[in-house]
Amino acid sequence: MILVTGASGALAGLVLDRLRAAEAAGGPEVAAGTRAPAPGSGQRRVDFDDPASLAESFAGVDVLVFVSAGYAEDDVVMDRHGAVVDAAAAAGVRHVIYTSLAGSGERITLSVAHRWTEERLAEGPFATTVLRNGLYAEIPAVLALAAAAAPPADTGVFGAPFGDGRVSVVAREDLADVTAKVALEAHAEPGRHADRTYELEGVESLHGDDIAAALTDALGRPVRYEPTPLGPAREVLAANGQLPYQIGHTVSIFANHRAGRLTADRSDLPELLDNPPRPVRPLVVAAVEGAGAR
Ligand SMILES: NC(=O)c1ccc[n+]([C@@H]2O[C@H](COP(=O)([O-])OP(=O)(O)OC[C@H]3O[C@@H](n4cnc5c(N)ncnc54)[C@H](OP(=O)(O)O)[C@@H]3O)[C@@H](O)[C@H]2O)c1
Repeated sequence: MILVTGASGALAGLVLDRLRAAEAAGGPEVAAGTRAPAPGSGQRRVDFDDPASLAESFAGVDVLVFVSAGYAEDDVVMDRHGAVVDAAAAAGVRHVIYTSLAGSGERITLSVAHRWTEERLAEGPFATTVLRNGLYAEIPAVLALAAAAAPPADTGVFGAPFGDGRVSVVAREDLADVTAKVALEAHAEPGRHADRTYELEGVESLHGDDIAAALTDALGRPVRYEPTPLGPAREVLAANGQLPYQIGHTVSIFANHRAGRLTADRSDLPELLDNPPRPVRPLVVAAVEGAGAR
């Protein structure tokens, strides 16, 4: 059996779509793990914040697709992830596939909990595959819009603290394709992808000008990019309701972007995908439309 955690999430949902299609075509049994299973859905309760329940959640699982559960302080994330490692070991899971953070993100603060988790997994009695996911295509635009002093829709200016830097980004669907493929292959052939780390970096990178061009498409009016300072961005993020730990991570991403340290020089993505990586521009346009292009 393959179990995917975080089933209500965007990435896990895409992975489950692919695995269920394979199951319907005669592939292995698939189970969805979530904190709040819908009654009668067959979903398993998987809540990393309830360590005592996890060994039972993982009973009978051959391959565990462990989707990271961020959105908390680092100590909380490490406690959650450590509990998953311990429970997978106790339940006799054969292979754990962990969705981590790409090497281009090594210097952003989010990497602390991810690298710690990778190290804990490496000590486990199971085979491990680390999928180091690149930043999702929409993340730079969405974070910058949440930090913008004025809406581009009003001003025709996309202000963001990116300086002249670029950021490598990837389509979540491509990450889901690879995750499902690795899980199916690891299930079919014990040892396959064992103790491997794959850098699933985007093969495209974005400059502030590219996001301004996406806003131009989304708004139907010209928008130009203007680099802005970090200090005011931090204040706007707080005013828009980001929590202190989130502001720390967001500002860290901005600073690395500005320093030109979020670009990948290599990626395992093309080799692991059956098709060329999806273009990211339509995803950025859709995201800025979804964000109200403020
Ligand atoms: N590469 C990137 O650009 C990027 C950007 C943002 C986040 N991430 C990381 O990648 C993960 C997947 O991304 P996503 O876009 O699918 O995020 P998402 O849509 O926010 O989904 C995250 C899922 O994590 C699960 N979760 C949260 N707390 C949990 C807990 N205590 N125990 C078990 N599961 C928990 C939830 O699923 P249930 O409600 O079903 O339990 C939630 O829906 C995120 O959780 C985050 O760690 C990566």
